[in-house]
Amino acid sequence: MADQVSVEVANRVLSIRMERPEKKNALTRAMYVAMTDAIRQAEASAPVRAIFITGTADCFTAGNDLLDFASAAPGETSPAIAFLQTLAAAQKPVVAAVNGIAIGIGTTMLLHCDLVYAASSARFQLPFVNLGLCPEAASSFILPGLMGHHRAAELLFLGGPFSADVARDLGIVNQVYADGELLAAATAKANQLAEQPPTALRVTKALLKQTLADATAEAMERETKQFSMLLQGPEAREAMTAFMQRRKPDFSNF
Ligand code: COA
Repeated sequence: MADQVSVEVANRVLSIRMERPEKKNALTRAMYVAMTDAIRQAEASAPVRAIFITGTADCFTAGNDLLDFASAAPGETSPAIAFLQTLAAAQKPVVAAVNGIAIGIGTTMLLHCDLVYAASSARFQLPFVNLGLCPEAASSFILPGLMGHHRAAELLFLGGPFSADVARDLGIVNQVYADGELLAAATAKANQLAEQPPTALRVTKALLKQTLADATAEAMERETKQFSMLLQGPEAREAMTAFMQRRKPDFSNF
């Protein structure tokens, strides 16, 4: 399983690559555990100065594995939550390079990264409601703050895809690069961070995040309770079944 997440350190940057291309890098429990461990490893290792998250050549991630969702036991502690909490609490700077699709947690994890770069063909999507679910990763709190209620409501209520340029205009992405240039450009930014004075960088990150840290953690907790209930509910069941049967879900009876 760990081979679906590759981790390597180069130039004082620890890179985490989601690598499950045959399933559009959809994240399984094992992959969340591997990614959480990698962030912890980066945090504990003094020579590592920055964390870099990316996917494969044409895909960031299609979000949580929907089969994993469908088989989640009631009340089960989710490795996805542990991953998000670890990412949100990371003291070292985190850079993300988004190529191709970034769906669900593929988009919300970016809200906890520091510098986010996207390929011009990247596509973002927050289809939680479409799946009978609610937002996670404190996105119900962070998105309205970034872009205002109306724009956040449109992204979440309708759950449609949006482009890299829109993501940049909404404040989710720092900069958009031509597809073939993204990886080199984002890697150069991570390498640049790795050359900065580490304590000053860490203190600056902590200062930036401190004001909203408690509210972010509370939002995550609120969302997790609702998410777990919705995940066991009939609307999510219909949405997951429809995905597996490759048909449009029908919510008309609810
Ligand atoms: N969970 C599990 N499997 C997934 C997946 C996910 N989130 N996303 C894609 N896959 C699988 C597909 O089932 C398919 O598997 P198969 O070849 O065994 O049938 C494979 O990845 C390729 O996906 P496919 O749908 O054939 O590719 P596409 O290019 O037509 O569409 C997506 C790509 C990502 C738009 C589409 O797969 C999709 O909508 N996925 C669900 C995204 C989602 O809702 N994520 C959860 C967010 S909370």
